[in-house]
Amino acid sequence: MKVDLEVPNTLILLVIGIASILLLKDKILSLLSHGDQGKKSVKDKRIIKHSKKMVKKQIIVVGAGLIGPRHAHHVSINPRCELFAIVDLFPVPELVEKYNTRYFQNIKDLIGYCDSNGLKYPDGAIVCTPNHTHAKVSKELSDYGINLIIEKPVTPTPEDSKALKLYTMNKVKVLVGHHRRFHPVIKEAKAKIKQIGDVLAIQGSWCLKKHHEYYNDWRKSRSGGPMLINLVHDLDLLQYLLGPVQSVFAEPLKNLRDHDDEGCSLVLKFKSGTIGTFVVSDNIPSPFNFENATGENPLIPHCPIDGLYRIFGNKGTLSLPDMKIYSTEHWHKPMVVEELNRPVGVPFDDQLNHFVDVLNGDLIKCTIDDGISAVLVTQAIMESLDTGERVIVKDLSVVEPNFNVLGLKELTPEPLKPMATAIKVN
Ligand SMILES: NC(=O)c1ccc[n+]([C@@H]2O[C@H](COP(=O)([O-])OP(=O)(O)OC[C@H]3O[C@@H](n4cnc5c(N)ncnc54)[C@H](O)[C@@H]3O)[C@@H](O)[C@H]2O)c1
Repeated sequence: MKVDLEVPNTLILLVIGIASILLLKDKILSLLSHGDQGKKSVKDKRIIKHSKKMVKKQIIVVGAGLIGPRHAHHVSINPRCELFAIVDLFPVPELVEKYNTRYFQNIKDLIGYCDSNGLKYPDGAIVCTPNHTHAKVSKELSDYGINLIIEKPVTPTPEDSKALKLYTMNKVKVLVGHHRRFHPVIKEAKAKIKQIGDVLAIQGSWCLKKHHEYYNDWRKSRSGGPMLINLVHDLDLLQYLLGPVQSVFAEPLKNLRDHDDEGCSLVLKFKSGTIGTFVVSDNIPSPFNFENATGENPLIPHCPIDGLYRIFGNKGTLSLPDMKIYSTEHWHKPMVVEELNRPVGVPFDDQLNHFVDVLNGDLIKCTIDDGISAVLVTQAIMESLDTGERVIVKDLSVVEPNFNVLGLKELTPEPLKPMATAIKVN
């Protein structure tokens, strides 16, 4: 009798022991792993575990200043992706800890790590470095076959962008990070704009005051000023909704700081014949900017306003982001206000999901040509500011590529660099 009772007790203890080990496996591994090395091994085991269930895209974020961490967050919560690593000139221990990922000081170190651990190179990179560095960083990533989301603007000049386009076109897929195209308000406006008939005019603004500490050297320069950092977003949206801009006339706003540019007032003529006026400034406290008006950026509090963009057609007026179409059959009759859908969605998530779809074979929704087209308009604006003249926007076909920005005299595409021999991740 005594013996009978002892055997089941031992068995029960054994079963409980095995179950506890299984449940606490990850915890035990992470307790054993105090340095970077340990963290990597836990992560590598997770990659292998996931690859058995679903092939997650391995994504890196290059540049972890203001916007990089936001991309890192969206990669980390996306079930189709894994944040393979963060690359920045300076260590980012909090982010590495928060997202249980790897850190490399540069792309060369990342590639060396993949090679020595027999890991496949990442599927994609989100380039979040300062504007003037996009070309070189993107070139280097493309050399290893790493597909790209390049933050806007593609590069500060169309000449640099064209060189990058020609260099990368047969190597990798490039999506430009004009993520606001993925904003539900913009998607809905694009779907409904025909309702207002022939679009005759548009009015809009991007006015906001940024804090003094934001302005490090690159942001005081023209290549990091409000036209290439902020207006370029609006130009992309306007061209997305209304087609290409043909000419611009720009008057500078008063310069109250020691920056190259502080803002301007614009007259835009679209190829369709639509005329637009637009004010941009990063020295005016106001909710009349996309971020405040839509609440799209978690760092900028939502301040709902109507009529950030007013798009005037011969059959009605579309107001964004309040999503109303105003119309009337007779000017003496009350205005009819149609409230369109206000769907919800997070543009960074939608952009990332689209990137995964592109990696799986879908067509790109914001191509490098789309990105360059916004840069061509900003170039015409700068020229107008400098000359006081109306400027015709150049066609990409006549832009001379500047291969110097890639460290090349001319285009001599190198073959893709060889990949690690043993491959652990699919
Ligand atoms: N889509 C958006 O809404 C949005 C918002 C902000 C910025 N941006 C764009 O994102 C980019 C970055 O802007 P930011 O405000 O985050 O800049 P930032 O100056 O805050 O951060 C840039 C980071 O890149 C790192 N870096 C610089 N050169 C590097 C290199 N060669 N390799 C690796 N890391 C490098 C820097 O150390 C820094 O941490 C810009 O192109 C900007 O236009 C987009």
